[in-house]
Amino acid sequence: MAFIPKSILVTGGAGFIGSNFIHSFIANNPECYVTNLDALTYAGNLANLKTVEHHPAYGFVKGDICDAALVARILHEKKIDTVVHFAAESHVDRSISGPEIFVRTNVLGTQTLLEESRKHWQSGLVPDFRFFQISTDEVYGTLGETGYFTEQTPLAPNSPYSASKAGADMLVRAYHETYGMPTLNTRCSNNYGPYHFPEKLIPLLINNIVHSKALPVYGDGRNVRDWLHVRDHAIAVETVLKSATPGSVYNIGGNNEWFNIDIVNLVCDLLDGRLGRPAGQNRGLITFVKDRLGHDRRYAIDASRLKDDLGWEPAYTFEKGIAETIDWYLANQEWVTEVTSGAYREYYAQQYGGRS
Ligand code: NAD
Ligand code: TYD
Repeated sequence: MAFIPKSILVTGGAGFIGSNFIHSFIANNPECYVTNLDALTYAGNLANLKTVEHHPAYGFVKGDICDAALVARILHEKKIDTVVHFAAESHVDRSISGPEIFVRTNVLGTQTLLEESRKHWQSGLVPDFRFFQISTDEVYGTLGETGYFTEQTPLAPNSPYSASKAGADMLVRAYHETYGMPTLNTRCSNNYGPYHFPEKLIPLLINNIVHSKALPVYGDGRNVRDWLHVRDHAIAVETVLKSATPGSVYNIGGNNEWFNIDIVNLVCDLLDGRLGRPAGQNRGLITFVKDRLGHDRRYAIDASRLKDDLGWEPAYTFEKGIAETIDWYLANQEWVTEVTSGAYREYYAQQYGGRS
């Protein structure tokens, strides 16, 4: 029987995937109230949610997932029956230069949410409950030239980021095994689309090309990532939430592998046309730089279980998704300027007493 959420707590809803999820979820679920708990770190931006900020079925709370009292209060007051947990430190390069915050937010933050959710669920205030952990294919480590990650692939994370996500996934598993808590856990491949912070590859490329800045390609550029449009991810999460058996783990991916250098060339060429530059000009910005430490060589997801069990498949072709994404960034240069300058933090700090 389908699980129908009535009051959902989204953590990290001001970030890239969380904000896309909120837009899609509110449109598809008018009967459900959405509470967004976000600490508004450098990656959280309420400008991503402008069109829903006054929606009657949406509320924002500025706060930290490590704040147990705050989490308990929201769960109780809003009679939350679903936690969809996106909040995280999410950038691999930052985890290499400063791993500690990754352990605090991704491991301890998840533990806090799990523990408060367990007490809330066991109090019986809501008839049914789901704790949904949003995770990444990076917990499986790296692949060679062939093969795919399945849900049976052992976790072998290589970066501090992926290690902290794997730690969180293990805690989620433990809460299901130990307390019987109704958990769900998905592991998705690299996302792209609107509201993506321009420190990640695709929005960084677009932004640098617009400003004719160098395009840093790590190592030989032949690392492989498997790209999925963020809206396809949002629909996959909603599908799993409503239909999956508690305790399930599902991979999410679009069967869309690219060498980094091929993505770089593609984005360069698409932007030559849009910016009225001569064909090939943007490729001149490509600069090979020192490789990322411990750089995973290849990610590729086998998402057949999700298709076979629950019928989910991506709706976007990469051709359509990347073209739309580039056009979105060109049409939203003000958003890019605000997030790269940090100006939005000043604005929301005044409104919510935000930390920056
Ligand atoms: P993001 O960095 O864009 O957003 C993270 C959000 O979490 C921000 O709004 C930030 O303010 C918030 N946050 C951080 N620390 C917090 C705290 N202590 N308390 C409350 N809020 C806090 O990240 P994203 O790319 O949207 O990723 C969202 C989730 O999806 C993460 O869990 C990530 O591991 C996972 N994921 C990401 C990708 C990807 O390609 N981006 C792929 C698979 C899985
Ligand atoms: P990224 O977007 O950081 O995602 P992840 O590391 O989680 O996969 O990087 C995607 C790929 O692009 C990864 O192989 C690293 C590479 N990359 C570059 O070559 N140059 C860059 O400036 C960035 C940010 C990433």
